[in-house]
Amino acid sequence: MKVTIFGTGYVGLVTGTCLAEMGNHVVCVDVDAGKVERLKQGDVPIYEPGLEPMVIRNHEEGRLDFTTDAAGGVAHGDIVFIAVGTPPDEDGSADLQYVLAVARTIGDHIDRYAVVVNKSTVPVGTADRVRGAVAEQLAARSSMVPFDVVSNPEFLKEGDAVEDCLRPDRIVVGSSSAKAIALLRKLYAPFNRNHDRMVVMDERSAELTKYAANAMLATKISFMNEMANIAERVGADIELVRQGIGADPRIGYHFIYPGAGYGGSCFPKDVQALARTAHAAGYDARLLGAVEIVNDTQKSRLFELLSGHFGGELKGLTVAVWGLAFKPNTDDMREASSRRLMERLWEAGAKVRAFDPEAAGEARRLYGERDDLQLVERPYQALEGADALVIVTEWKAFRSPDFTRVKSLLSTPVIFDGRNLYDPATVEEAGIAYYGIGRGRSL
Ligand code: UGA
Repeated sequence: MKVTIFGTGYVGLVTGTCLAEMGNHVVCVDVDAGKVERLKQGDVPIYEPGLEPMVIRNHEEGRLDFTTDAAGGVAHGDIVFIAVGTPPDEDGSADLQYVLAVARTIGDHIDRYAVVVNKSTVPVGTADRVRGAVAEQLAARSSMVPFDVVSNPEFLKEGDAVEDCLRPDRIVVGSSSAKAIALLRKLYAPFNRNHDRMVVMDERSAELTKYAANAMLATKISFMNEMANIAERVGADIELVRQGIGADPRIGYHFIYPGAGYGGSCFPKDVQALARTAHAAGYDARLLGAVEIVNDTQKSRLFELLSGHFGGELKGLTVAVWGLAFKPNTDDMREASSRRLMERLWEAGAKVRAFDPEAAGEARRLYGERDDLQLVERPYQALEGADALVIVTEWKAFRSPDFTRVKSLLSTPVIFDGRNLYDPATVEEAGIAYYGIGRGRSL
C-alpha cells in the first residue's frame, strides 16, 4: 500500500520503517531539510536498537523515502499518518499547532480519497479538529474530495520501539467509517497474524485509550515509589514487598519497580495533559495530580539521600553518576531523573563525573562545557577519586560491578542505588555503604 508519514521523530520514523519492512511503499515527510538529508544517507538521528539497519535496507530497496515535499507526500499516500510532536503548552495541555498545520497541508493537496490517521498522542476531540482543518482547506479550494480521519495511537516504548512496532500487543483503531477501518485492517494484516490484535472503537475512546494506558502505567510507578517511601520509614524492604505483591496475577510483576521517578517524553507530559483535559471537562482528576506530585518528589530522592549521608555538606564533592538517559537503551534525557540530581548537586556546589553508554552526547548538548560536569568514556573512570557513586539508569553494564574495584576507586565508599540493582548485603560486605530506594532494612 502507499503510505505517507508526516513527522520523522520517534513515532513517525519507527512506524514508517516498520510499514516499509512489511512491503508498503512509505514516504516520510519532514520540514527539517537537514534531517531528511541525513536520513537519506542512512544516518538515523536517534538511538533505537535495530532501527538504523532497517531504515538503510528499506531505503536502498526503494520502499522507504524521505522528503520535505509536503504536496508530493500527500499525493503519494492512500493512508496519510500524522506523527508530529504535541509538546506541552505552558499550562500542560498538548499543543496541537503542528498536528493542525499538517491537517491543513493535507486539505490543501489531497486529490483523491485518503485516510488521515492521527498517530501522535492527542487530546480527546482532536480527530474532530483534524477533520475540521482538512475540510476547511478543501472548502477554500471548492473541492469535494472525500476523506476519513482515524485515531490510531501508538504504544511504542523507547529502546524497544522496533520490536513493539513489529509485534504489537494491540492495534487500537478509532473510526466510525467502515471504509477506513477496512483499509487499516489491510495495512495492519501482516502485524496481526496469529490472532486479531485490532481493537476497533470510536475516535474519542481511542484517543482516551492512549492517555489511560500511560496514566495507568505512571500510576503504578508512583504507587510503588510511595510504598518505597513508606517501607523506608517502617523498616521494610520494598524489593521483598514488590515480589510479594507481584505474585498476584491481578497485580503482576511488570512495571512495579520503584526508583528515582519516571521520566521520558511521554508519562510526564501525558499525565499532565490528561489532567488538563479532565479539568477542561469540569472534572478534578485528583489521582492524576497525586501521581505527578509523587513523581516530582521522587526525582529529588537521590539528592536527598546524598545530602543526608554527607550532612548537607556537598560543596566541593565529586559525585560519580552511572546512567543519564531516562531509561536504558536510549540516549533520550527528556525529563530524566539524572537531570534533577545533577542540577541539585551543582546548586549545592558539587561536581558530577558521569558515564552513560549512549547519552553523553545528549548531556553535552543540554549542558555544554562546564567545570562541574565531566563526561567519561568508561564506567570505572567516573569513580576515580569520587566521593560517591549514584546509579540513576539501570543499563545492563551496571548490573554486576566489581565491588572491590569500586571500593578502591572511590575516596568515600558509598553507593546510592536509584534503581535497586544490588543486594544491600553484598555491597556492605564489600565495605561500601549502601542506600537504595525503599530499603528500610538496609538503613
Ligand atoms: C511509555 C509507555 O511505556 C509506552 O507504552 C508508550 O507508547 C510511550 O510511553 C509513549 O507514550 O510514547 P517510554 O516513555 O518509552 O514508553 O518508557 P517506559 O519504558 O514506559 O518508561 C518510562 C519511565 O518509567 C522511565 O523513566 C522508567 O525508568 C520508569 N519506570 C518504568 C519505573 O520507574 N519503574 C517501572 O517499573 C517501569
